[in-house]
Amino acid sequence: MKLEDFISKRLQIGRRSARALILDGKVTHRGAPTEDHRCEVTRFDEVTVGGKILQSSLPRLYLMLHKPVGILSATSDREHRTVLDLIDHPDKATLHLAGRLDRGSTGLVLLSNDGQWTGSLTSPGRKVEKSYLVETDRPIPAEAMARFAEGFPFPTEGITTLPALLEILEPQRARVTLQEGRYHQIKRMFHRLDGIRLRSLHRDRIGPLSLPEGLKPGQWRPLTGAELDAFAEPPSSGID
Ligand code: URA
Repeated sequence: MKLEDFISKRLQIGRRSARALILDGKVTHRGAPTEDHRCEVTRFDEVTVGGKILQSSLPRLYLMLHKPVGILSATSDREHRTVLDLIDHPDKATLHLAGRLDRGSTGLVLLSNDGQWTGSLTSPGRKVEKSYLVETDRPIPAEAMARFAEGFPFPTEGITTLPALLEILEPQRARVTLQEGRYHQIKRMFHRLDGIRLRSLHRDRIGPLSLPEGLKPGQWRPLTGAELDAFAEPPSSGID
């Protein structure tokens, strides 16, 4: 939002009056006086008027979490514990998820209070790869690889799934790499193969970021600068 609109809204004054305050040098933005009445204000920026804080600065948070079984990928729930219950941070109420895992699934979950960042990770156009290890209740047929690559029609959503990579590691263990994240996608894809059910599903990679070995179920930590920078690179796909 433009600075003059932000001040007009917060102080409930007209835009012209807000602009006058800015041009009179009464306003600071991100710690410095500004006369740029059209500069963009985000929820992370401190804004003061006449020495009074109108909005405090908010740190940008980018966290990874190892989700254990039984925890809901949500920020609040009446019945179940959520990923937010596992995080001990003063600003955790500002966080939201960049993609979900089912309650029974485990592995890498990313959280942030930067909506642009989470939006870019989950946007269908960006096709950020996610990788999962699965165990099935029965041997996986060899033709499953071609079926995953072709895509499965999902009539409820009116789509066909994008080509996915299935690597069979053992008769009942496989790695699946997706370019999207539809509701119960991997379970539904396996179910189309003669009703195969999953015994476990574990996400160990999102884009360039692998779940670190040292991060145990239930633990979380901030992303490092290098990890964050890696997401800014154009995604490289292993899927045709
Ligand atoms: N696909 C699923 O079916 N479940 C998950 O948790 C993630 C992908």
